[in-house]
Amino acid sequence: MTLPEVDVVLASPRGFCAGVVRAIETVKLTLQDEGAPVFVLHEIVHNRHVLAELEQLGTRFVKDLHDIPAGGICIFSAHGVSLETERRAEAGGLRTIDATCPLVTGIHRLVEQYHSQGYDVIIIGHHGHPEVVGTAGRVGDRVHVVADEREAGQVVVNSMDKVAYVTQTTLSQHDVAGVRAILRQRFPDIKGPAESNICYATQNRQDAVRQLAARAELIFVVGSKNSSNSNRLKEVAESSGCRSYLIDDREDLQPGWLNGVTSVGITAGASAPERLVEGVLDWLEEHAVIKSVSELFGKDEHIKFKPARSFR
Ligand code: F3S
Repeated sequence: MTLPEVDVVLASPRGFCAGVVRAIETVKLTLQDEGAPVFVLHEIVHNRHVLAELEQLGTRFVKDLHDIPAGGICIFSAHGVSLETERRAEAGGLRTIDATCPLVTGIHRLVEQYHSQGYDVIIIGHHGHPEVVGTAGRVGDRVHVVADEREAGQVVVNSMDKVAYVTQTTLSQHDVAGVRAILRQRFPDIKGPAESNICYATQNRQDAVRQLAARAELIFVVGSKNSSNSNRLKEVAESSGCRSYLIDDREDLQPGWLNGVTSVGITAGASAPERLVEGVLDWLEEHAVIKSVSELFGKDEHIKFKPARSFR
């Protein structure tokens, strides 16, 4: 069988963002300082390989605080939690460490500030996503989640001239634009960011995959199915006219996808480790003749966050 000949192009930046690095380091350092088990409420980040590695080291991921024994250590995931969750953890005698991404914490503070000034707050984001649930849960009332233009047209607020909005950090500008336009039309005095609260990492990876789509006929996005920013990367690649697959790792790849393809692009979501990208490159070496491997020049990222070390 003749193997396809392909040029391989890597997006840059790709993979881990500063918030994910911080959350993983927080869990590892807590394990090192306190010993196992350490409990994490929800998935620390949305990547099953990261979870498996941390589980090996003695981390227990739980869906509810009830699953943590009194006195146990509970780490809040990078997505952030509601005020109610913080209170329940305290009441349950848990020792908590907050691995919420500082950029998400910044949005929490904004929502709390708007709310204390009497505003209704609209969160543009996906219903049920842990970040959105946590952000909405920073305040008890006058908060609304709007996922699309239809919902933006229907949302009911207490006072037309006291409305503010924030967005989930992992959307695309395309997702936000139509919703924001409807909100601004309905509530001309609405307060909020000029564009969105989409974070630097989400934006840079989307810009990079758009650049990649102009160079590649096929793009592999490495990331788990429940990773919001990884799903957006696939959508941005496809809306740029490039066939794209979201894969957890090399095991998901199918040789038939390479039929008739001469250039393959690879990127990775903000919670996907680089070793998975290396695995995809190894797979390509086995299933194609690689004529060249190049990396696009993207934005340099210098943002770093210190891990959370202290109990709340
Ligand atoms: Fe934070 Fe953005 Fe990463 S909000 S966790 S830097 S994707």
